[in-house]
Amino acid sequence: MGLSMRYSDAPQVAQLLVAGLILAAAVLGLSSHFLGFIPVAIPAFGIFLPKKKENRRVRVYMDGCFDLMHYGHANALRQARALGDELVVGVVSDGEIESNKGPPVMSMDERMAMVRSVKWVDEVIEDAPYAINEEFMNKLFTKYRIDYIIHGDDPCLLPDGSDAYAHAKKAGRYKQIKRTEGVSSTDIVGRMLLCVRDRPPSEIQNHASLQRQFSHGHSHGPDSHPQTQISHFLPTSRRIVQFSNGKGPRPDARIVYIDGAFDLFHAGHVAILERAKALGDFLLVGIHTDQTVRTRRGAHHPVMNLHERSLSVLSCRYADEIIIGAPWEVTKDMVTTFNISLVVHGTVAETTDFKEGDFDPYACPKQLGKFKILESPRNITTSTIIARIVANHEAFRKRNEKKAESERRYYANKQFVNGD
Ligand SMILES: *[C@@H]1O[C@H](CO)[C@@H](O)[C@H](O)[C@H]1NC(C)=O
Ligand SMILES: *[C@@H]1O[C@H](CO)[C@@H](O)[C@H](O)[C@H]1NC(C)=O
Repeated sequence: MGLSMRYSDAPQVAQLLVAGLILAAAVLGLSSHFLGFIPVAIPAFGIFLPKKKENRRVRVYMDGCFDLMHYGHANALRQARALGDELVVGVVSDGEIESNKGPPVMSMDERMAMVRSVKWVDEVIEDAPYAINEEFMNKLFTKYRIDYIIHGDDPCLLPDGSDAYAHAKKAGRYKQIKRTEGVSSTDIVGRMLLCVRDRPPSEIQNHASLQRQFSHGHSHGPDSHPQTQISHFLPTSRRIVQFSNGKGPRPDARIVYIDGAFDLFHAGHVAILERAKALGDFLLVGIHTDQTVRTRRGAHHPVMNLHERSLSVLSCRYADEIIIGAPWEVTKDMVTTFNISLVVHGTVAETTDFKEGDFDPYACPKQLGKFKILESPRNITTSTIIARIVANHEAFRKRNEKKAESERRYYANKQFVNGD
């Protein structure tokens, strides 16, 4: 891991020493147990040990815009957390994003909700600066007791071309993690634009150019057909394991089930998952297959494929377990197999999800008296996010022009970096 000077080294040595002494005493105690002096002697050893220092926890800091948050962001936070004991995340303000990159798609409130929900995040700092200046860096070290500042191996350049992490690097308090391949916000925007292709020709023209602006520029030429914009994500079993809790419900746990597409995982999803979790001890989340979502929402949906959607839900602290490819209908067999106590569904959902005359997918849990409608705390949906992108396409196009050059450099110079 490369943390050569962990603060906890000294106490660990002390702990080993104590353990060794107790072990020795225990051995002696077994053989001379009736002499009765050993139990007195054990605490006496403690007096000669240096007073055990409070186990200092290593605190790491990572910042970001976390706009259109995806599992790549979540993976970065997971990796950052693994470099320390506590992860503090700085979320860049709307104003700072606007002046450095262009308008954010998601509001500060939505971005904060997303970052807070990630299970590897311990604390969140609102309105972090886009670049870590010396003053903020010192505040991180003193007020927030940060040991290391973490960033990915992709370049983070300021509008003037300088490195946003130069101060932290100079102070020797910078650590790098490997960028998560296969996903980026620009790529996701490109996929979203596919969803709205059935529009007047003038608009399609705009979208095509916008999509080019948002694509990486390393794999698609300007003439490439938008249809080729598919996920580059290669799902590995290891990644799923890294994201999952690896724990089943405790005996007697009350298991709540919620299902959905969870496409473009957003603050509305997080809010309903939190509410669902509060109704039981263990939240099981069923994620519909790509085919199911396509049938309901149209040919270009879902924007994120099943594995990507699964990772996003797994990164959320309220989800305990997921079903990767849940059926549309909640059957009696499912309720029995997972010992589901309650099936819930939110009030805010895509209008295309339920069609007139459809059979009711919740008929079984309703009949069993195990169904509940939950008031959705937020009214944001996957469609509203796509609508924001389309409404602001000119601004996003400009934003991406700024970014395209550094992205091109990253992919041109890309090399294998060790890490997970
Ligand atoms: C099934 O869930 C209920 C709570 O709803 C719990 O009391 C029961 O112990 C569970 N059954 C098993 C076999 O875990
Ligand atoms: C969604 O909720 C916000 C605030 O709660 C409100 O301002 C907005 O009008 C709502 N939008 C819709 C489409 O209901």
